[in-house]
Amino acid sequence: TQAQIGVTGLAVMGRNLARNLARNGFTVAVHNRTAARTDALVAEFGEEGDFVATRTAKEFVAALERPRRLVVMVKAGEPTDAVIDEFAPLLEPGDMIIDGGNAHFADTRRRERLLRERDLHFVGTGISGGEEGALHGPSIMPGGSAESYAVLGPILERIAAKAEDGTPCVSHVGPDGAGHFVKMVHNGIEYADMQLIGEAYQLLRDVAGYTPGRISDIFRTWNTGRLDSYLIEITAEVLAHVDEYTGKPFVDVVADAAEQKGTGRWTVQTALDLGVPVSGIAEAVFARSLSGHVPLREASRSLEGPTPRALSEEEAAAFADRVEQALYASKIMSYTQGFHEITAGAEEYGWGIDPGAVAALWRGGCIIRAAFLDRIRAAYDTRPDLPSLLSDATFAREVADAQDDWREVMVAATRQGVPAPGFAAALAYYDALRAERLPAALVQGQRDFFGAHTYRRTDREGSFHTLWGGDRSEVEA
Ligand code: 6PG
Repeated sequence: TQAQIGVTGLAVMGRNLARNLARNGFTVAVHNRTAARTDALVAEFGEEGDFVATRTAKEFVAALERPRRLVVMVKAGEPTDAVIDEFAPLLEPGDMIIDGGNAHFADTRRRERLLRERDLHFVGTGISGGEEGALHGPSIMPGGSAESYAVLGPILERIAAKAEDGTPCVSHVGPDGAGHFVKMVHNGIEYADMQLIGEAYQLLRDVAGYTPGRISDIFRTWNTGRLDSYLIEITAEVLAHVDEYTGKPFVDVVADAAEQKGTGRWTVQTALDLGVPVSGIAEAVFARSLSGHVPLREASRSLEGPTPRALSEEEAAAFADRVEQALYASKIMSYTQGFHEITAGAEEYGWGIDPGAVAALWRGGCIIRAAFLDRIRAAYDTRPDLPSLLSDATFAREVADAQDDWREVMVAATRQGVPAPGFAAALAYYDALRAERLPAALVQGQRDFFGAHTYRRTDREGSFHTLWGGDRSEVEA
């Protein structure tokens, strides 16, 4: 029998994806550089469905029905190029290579172009949801040609997570690198969500004076409301966990230096290139990097801070409610920034991405899955040309209702000396967008003063320069 799809690269993500495909009734050819992994997969999970174990690249390609659908699940970067170099010569026009790794969208664009010249489809595909998602239903973000999606889509729709309304969490995001671009922004938003949740935790701990156990209960309660999401749910689990060796809260024995594999950083680097202000996502990346500068932090530990003030039980409870408001409003800001980046990327690269469809496929399976995303989808469905999430009346109203508490939380954080860069950046973003006038006018004046960089006026068309070194009269530039 010929396999309908093949997976090469059988580390945990590849293995689970292959099992998901087999469990859904597809015949799956499997291949790995070292054959032991292939054998282990078939020995352990062979009963779950139809696997075709193959040993060589040639055997693997021969096992696939045409047009061939070949899923690559190797480490992003050079290993992906190596696999492409190995398999592409064995393929025939119309076959497709599906890259399910966390590739940079620029690499995906390059690879797509190269393979297109050989009449092969290269489908850079974002896959979110970790190991569990790969096995039970991930959120899938395929790029590549519409033609390839017509052949591949039905398979992906079977193995993807299903949103609450039963819709599969997959759709054709756009051509070439669009899928990996959207996955990158997903991860940037993931970083921001995690940072904001982290700040909420720290404030509940250091300002409200709550224990991790109590904070876990608070997150559990929040998870029944508008913050209902996977990340809030697992936060409650992590905070409730007790270390088996010391009996201390788990969160107190883990080294507080956050690591990163780079997708959050890419989101910010790309945003800088596109000129999109993703300050909340950037703060999340910077917060991780600051946490990792251990010697710098140790050298700074003696720096003075404010004298903390203990809250009464009643004040603490009121404060906790405020933190929920601050977290929710800040979350709206990071999604606003993330969707802005998607829209800007789509415009820059001519992808024609539908932001509502992106929100829809993030509703289930992925790390940022949340009830909230269905409302983002609804906002874009109502108005596909929505300039910003904050232009949606419902989101704008919710932020307006949250803002007093949000500001109070920032006051408390500042007064008590608890760093909350994500909350602060989000609030500054909100206030900057709202502002009638920004100090950018003064910056323009400074630029014109020292470099004759010129400025525009509010009352007349044209570019102007003031003769700062002379009689300070204005000339048209
Ligand atoms: C997902 C995740 C995943 C990512 C991890 C680790 O959507 O399933 O985003 O792709 O690799 O979250 O990312 P960092 O190591 O950068 O935190």
